[in-house]
Amino acid sequence: MASFRLVFLLLLCFCSAAFAELITSYCSDNTTIASAQMSANIDVVLRQLAKNTAKNDGFSIATYGQGKDTVYGLGQCRKDINSSACSTCIHDAASYIRQSCYYENNGTDERIYYDNCLLRYSDQKFFGIFDPSVVMNFYSSIKPRDQDFFRVQLETLMNFVISFAVMPQNKGFMKGSTAVSSSVDIYGIAQCTQDLSTSSCQTCLKTGFANFDKLCRKQKTVGCRVQYGGCYLRYDTDPF
Ligand SMILES: *[C@@H]1O[C@H](CO)[C@@H](O)[C@H](O)[C@H]1NC(C)=O
Ligand SMILES: *[C@@H]1O[C@H](CO)[C@@H](O)[C@H](O)[C@H]1NC(C)=O
Ligand SMILES: *[C@@H]1O[C@H](CO)[C@@H](O)[C@H](O)[C@H]1NC(C)=O
Repeated sequence: MASFRLVFLLLLCFCSAAFAELITSYCSDNTTIASAQMSANIDVVLRQLAKNTAKNDGFSIATYGQGKDTVYGLGQCRKDINSSACSTCIHDAASYIRQSCYYENNGTDERIYYDNCLLRYSDQKFFGIFDPSVVMNFYSSIKPRDQDFFRVQLETLMNFVISFAVMPQNKGFMKGSTAVSSSVDIYGIAQCTQDLSTSSCQTCLKTGFANFDKLCRKQKTVGCRVQYGGCYLRYDTDPF
């Protein structure tokens, strides 16, 4: 189911420049929005996130509704973009997130990822929790020239960005780059959602990195993203 969505959205990306930086979305396929009240609550949460995320230094959470119709939402921007780029991205995400799951099942756990931001809502309180069960990955099909050296440099870079991202002053974000040849660099980024504690952030990023062999074609590819609900890792030989 998840892989079907990736294909579907990638096609959409090519069709519409407006979604050029949309990476993917996830729609839970085992629960469905059961009531009109919950559906209305989702809209309230999305409006709050759209209004507050950029203003609040690129991160906000929102909770709305009562009992089984309660909805929890989170919006976050990439830490190194400015407030207006953050606002644009979150508004795009908020207006598209429901549509992206509409044709599937109107599930109750929806996540949407852009280059510059992510947005999520659920009927379960997910704040502060790293859930390793849902992971999405993308990788380039291009192989680096010197695979062994690439792997060594990539490992150094990822260890660097992860260890700096989890320092409290960095608020779960770090990027960096390193050379893989005289003319090629690899760029790397690690970011956690800010609801995670330092230790959950570290667990999320380390879990992602530990799964690179599985999720990034044994690291024999020039670019890859690994995306959990609570964090993501990305590297590429093209700057991003
Ligand atoms: C739906 O699936 C998720 C992930 O597999 C699981 O954690 C959750 O408990 C499931 N929910 C229901 C209602 O079955
Ligand atoms: C914010 O960043 C975007 C994209 O890099 C840039 O085009 C824009 O000029 C910046 N805006 C401000 C106010 O700095
Ligand atoms: C999702 O919900 C909308 C509005 O309630 C409905 O029109 C649409 O058919 C639903 N999609 C699916 C796949 O059931």
